[in-house]
Amino acid sequence: MRTEIYYFTGTGNGLFIAKSIKAKLESNNESVNLIAINTIDLSNEIVSEAEKIGIVYPTYAMTAPKIVKDFAKQLRVRDNKYLFLYGHSGGGGARVAVNAIKIILQERGINISNTFETTFPSNSAIKAYGTEQLKAILDKSEESIEKNVSSIVNAEERNTSKLNLIRKSSLLLAENLAVIGEKFMGFKKISSDDTCIGCATCVKVCPVENIKLSNNRPVFSDKCEMCLACVNQCPKKSLSYGKMKKANMMSYRHPDVTLKELMYR
Ligand SMILES: Cc1cc2nc3c(=O)[nH]c(=O)nc-3n(C[C@H](O)[C@H](O)[C@H](O)COP(=O)(O)O)c2cc1C
Ligand code: SF4
Ligand code: SF4
Repeated sequence: MRTEIYYFTGTGNGLFIAKSIKAKLESNNESVNLIAINTIDLSNEIVSEAEKIGIVYPTYAMTAPKIVKDFAKQLRVRDNKYLFLYGHSGGGGARVAVNAIKIILQERGINISNTFETTFPSNSAIKAYGTEQLKAILDKSEESIEKNVSSIVNAEERNTSKLNLIRKSSLLLAENLAVIGEKFMGFKKISSDDTCIGCATCVKVCPVENIKLSNNRPVFSDKCEMCLACVNQCPKKSLSYGKMKKANMMSYRHPDVTLKELMYR
C-alpha cells in the first residue's frame, strides 16, 4: 500500500504527527511519502495516485490555513482511496479546521474516510507554559496520536457523513470570526526590534518565502500564512506580531522536530 501524507507546519506539531504515521506504516512494510504542502505548485491540479492519503494541518484563528484550503481545491484522487484529515490545535479547536477542509473536498465529490484531532501546546501562547504543564500537554498529545495512528494503520472509517446545513452555517460564522480574530491579533503584522542579529533563521523557516533580509533586518512581504515559525524560531526573540511582544512570550518548537527539519532554504 502506498501512502502520501500532505502536511503544513510552522512549529513542528504537524510534522511530528506526519512522522509518527510514517514510522508506524513503514514498520508494517508500507511505503510512505511526506510532502510539505508549501513545496507544491498549487496553481495546477495535484494528482495523487496513492491508496492512502492524509492531510495534516493546524488550526489558525478557528479555521484551516489558507494554503491548505488552496491545496484541497486542487487535489485529485483515486475513487477507492482511503483519505483522512488530521487537524490539530493549541486549544482543542481543531474540529472547525477539520470541517473547513472536509467541506471543500465533499463539495468537490471527494469522500473522507476518517478525521482525527489532537491538542498540542499552542505556538501562539501569550504566556509561557510551566515545564510540568508543557510536559502534560505533550504526553496527552502523544497518547492521542498513538491511538489515531493505529486507526490509520487499520484504515478505520469514521466521520464519513456529509456536513449538514447547521455545520455548514457554523463554519461560515467561524470563517467570519477568523477574519476578525486575525486582524485583532495582528498575526500578519510581524516586526523585528533592535535585538535582531541578521542571522536569517526567520528567512529559512518561512514556508512561503515571505521574508527577505535587507540591511541584515527581516522585511516581510504579503504572502504570510500566519504560521508563526519565524516568531517562534528567532534565536533572539526579536520578532513580535500585533501587540504581542515575543520577548515576553514562549518560543515553541515540537521537542521531536529539529530546527533543520523546519528549514526550507
Ligand atoms: C495564527 C495562529 C492562530 C491559531 N489559532 C488557533 C485557534 O483558533 N484554536 C486553537 O485551538 N489553536 C490555535 N492555534 C494554535 C495552533 O493551531 C497549534 O499550536 C498547532 O498545533 C501548531 O501547529 P504546527 O506546530 O504544526 O505549526 C493558532 C496558532 C497560530 C499560529
Ligand atoms: S531570526 Fe531573529 S535574529 Fe535572525 S534575522 Fe530573523 S529576526 Fe533577526
Ligand atoms: S512570515 Fe512568519 S508567520 Fe508568516 S508565513 Fe512566514 S514564517 Fe510564517
